[in-house]
Amino acid sequence: MKNIVVLVSGGGTNLQALIDAERRGEINGGKITCVISSKEGVFALERAEKAGIPTVVLPRKEYADKVSYSVALLAELQRQKADLIVLAGFMTILDSCVTKAYPFRIINVHPALIPAFCGDGFYGLKVHEKVLEYGVKVSGATIHFVNEFTDAGAVILQGVVEVLNDDTPEVLQKRIMENVEWKLLPKAVSLFCEDRITIKDGKAYVD
Ligand code: GAR
Repeated sequence: MKNIVVLVSGGGTNLQALIDAERRGEINGGKITCVISSKEGVFALERAEKAGIPTVVLPRKEYADKVSYSVALLAELQRQKADLIVLAGFMTILDSCVTKAYPFRIINVHPALIPAFCGDGFYGLKVHEKVLEYGVKVSGATIHFVNEFTDAGAVILQGVVEVLNDDTPEVLQKRIMENVEWKLLPKAVSLFCEDRITIKDGKAYVD
């Protein structure tokens, strides 16, 4: 059984999707053993507590910079004996001391079709605002491994939705979450825990 540690910063709907999938028996070979939040008082923590999952709060604002935060986070991940780390709406950029310690063992969900609308400054609703500003006709979400560059690790799964003429960022976000993120994130986590993701030439392939 792999220990899955989920990192959150906000509402935690993706965490909820993982909890629900685990409850339905859809996470094969893994168990959510800890939820770590970069912010106090967020709803994701309530979701974890309600599901009986141990929580740790490691507030980003208490650390001077990305490196000192990452060093503390790395120590906590090691304490938790994490086999897989899932960034589920985790809004903090990590230093390479974390990404290098867990190569191809950190999974992120990004709410757009990488390599479009991603990188520094593209997070949460801002991504959907940029998509609507540009006028593209499809968007979606990407489940990918995390490396030392923002949103640049190997892509595992992607799913697409239509962008409609009267979309607001909030409406588009909801369509992408419901149709893609909440389905593909648990699926990718299960594939990882079943050792069904192969890495070749830096790219990820599902067997
Ligand atoms: C989700 O849409 C997730 O894809 C996005 O933030 C939202 C968090 O929602 N993540 C990023 O933008 C990371 N770059 P949640 O807290 O309800 O899961």
